Amino acid sequence: MFQIKKICCIGAGYVGGPTCSVIASKCPDIKVTVVDVNEARINAWNSDTLPIYEPGLKEIVLSCRGKNLFFSTDIDTAIKEADLVFISVNTPTKTYGMGKGRAADLKFIEACARRIVEVSEGYKIVTEKSTVPVRAAESIRRIFDANTKPKLNLQVLSNPEFLAEGTAVKDLQEPDRVLIGGDEGPEGQRAIAALREVYEHWVDKSRIITTNTWSSELSKLAANAFLAQRISSINSISALCEATGADVEEVAKAIGMDQRIGSKFLKASVGFGGSCFQKDVLNLVYLCEALNLTEVAKYWQQVIDMNEYQRRRFACRIIDCLFNTVSGKKIALLGFAFKKDTGDTRESSSIYISKYLMDEGAELHIYDPKVSKEQIMLDLSQPSITERPEKVSELVTVSSDPYEACTNAHALVICTEWDMFKKLDYLKIYQKMQKPAFIFDGRRVLDDLHMQLQNIGFQIETIGKKVTTRIPFTPFTPTTFLLKDPLLRKPKAQKKD
Ligand code: NAD
Ligand code: UDX
Repeated sequence: MFQIKKICCIGAGYVGGPTCSVIASKCPDIKVTVVDVNEARINAWNSDTLPIYEPGLKEIVLSCRGKNLFFSTDIDTAIKEADLVFISVNTPTKTYGMGKGRAADLKFIEACARRIVEVSEGYKIVTEKSTVPVRAAESIRRIFDANTKPKLNLQVLSNPEFLAEGTAVKDLQEPDRVLIGGDEGPEGQRAIAALREVYEHWVDKSRIITTNTWSSELSKLAANAFLAQRISSINSISALCEATGADVEEVAKAIGMDQRIGSKFLKASVGFGGSCFQKDVLNLVYLCEALNLTEVAKYWQQVIDMNEYQRRRFACRIIDCLFNTVSGKKIALLGFAFKKDTGDTRESSSIYISKYLMDEGAELHIYDPKVSKEQIMLDLSQPSITERPEKVSELVTVSSDPYEACTNAHALVICTEWDMFKKLDYLKIYQKMQKPAFIFDGRRVLDDLHMQLQNIGFQIETIGKKVTTRIPFTPFTPTTFLLKDPLLRKPKAQKKD
């Protein structure tokens, strides 16, 4: 059997970095080199301040770096040396041309394929770790075949990554499953066996499953679509709860105890964020459209539409409760990362909530324990968020302290479920806020504190539940809002390319 002794991973991002660090820690006999075109990122991986935050990651990197784990910008040497090359580069949604806004942009994958075939000699296993549309492996193979040279033998496998940010290390150390897709012929099976052997260093054989290449590629898109669909489903129920007096947490518990449904991924929220769900569901939608499966495309598109609706609905609720105007009002926004335990802000719902509030002239004071001021300002200055970047500097202040963010604020809005938000001194916060002082809990982190918070004097609004009010005010009525507020009207359908 072919034995893998050296691994090169192209792409030192949220997937490449943690995945290869865990492989290096579990396989001391394998030399792992992670390479990237981004020199600053590689320098950070080689420093004391890693470029990404993941619980437990730094300890692993420090224990292997310089022994069998290396970070480098010398891409060609690492490819040349390797028995196995992981492609872990970004596959963002296309922002131009055909499929704009839906299809995955595969230009980075193609660049890797061309580089690999140019510098490689002899036998190598090339493995897609990035999330790609079905049949992307075929494109890689065609590039290899069209540029092949004597004695070169490049085998292509699909080995999608299922880690979630914030729990990446645990997900990698104890994966639910490892999926390897490859050719059904003997060459493909030989490559699969070699990659399987790497994972068998720490993953039980029964959890390593092998399929054909296309099933592997599609399984990744389908897994993310199913997970996103569960969140959109529970978020749709949260709207119903707010309108009826039911409590979405109670509904989630009741339905989740049915073993056929299960309890995970039923947490109502301000909408899902992150670099994967929206991108991958849109990619699936695009694939279905391209294959003339219109009804299937429409079905999955609704998962995205519901997510956008949830974000707009939450922003409208804030505006409505603040007496229908937030113009010139200070609002403290706590949490900017797309989920807790990560500093990643890609597609974070906080960005969209901020956009809707900025559009209404609110003054935002944003606090997040792991996201830098530069990142927040950059995210909010994107053309899709604001037409005038100056507006962001006028309306947004980034605070390094949650109490400072809340001082003189009319409302405190929780967008990320950081544990520390449960432990803040809310009496101190209340005393410094404008009255009536509102809390909008977009993550249900303060559920256990409602009584205390109300006793302090807070007006609490929370996703998926009507909280009994203590002061007279106009209650939120979704139907009237739907009619009168442009934010809640469905956005115009995107023009097809
Ligand atoms: P990322 O943007 O954090 O990292 C990608 C890295 O690839 C960047 O540092 C970039 O500089 C580098 N790169 C791009 N082209 C290159 C080239 N030609 N040569 C060398 N380096 C190059 O992306 P990510 O979050 O790590 O995601 C990577 C892939 O994994 C995507 O397809 C994504 O959908 C998938 N994925 C992501 C997650 C996640 O939680 N982030 C989970 C599972 C799968
Ligand atoms: C996701 C998939 O879970 C992972 O398997 C895949 O490899 C990459 O995409 P990630 O985006 O990192 O991982 O985090 P995840 O935990 O899935 O959360 C995504 C978003 O959904 C976050 O904004 C999170 O707050 C939100 N979410 C999650 C909910 O709103 N409710 C839930 O019940 C679960």
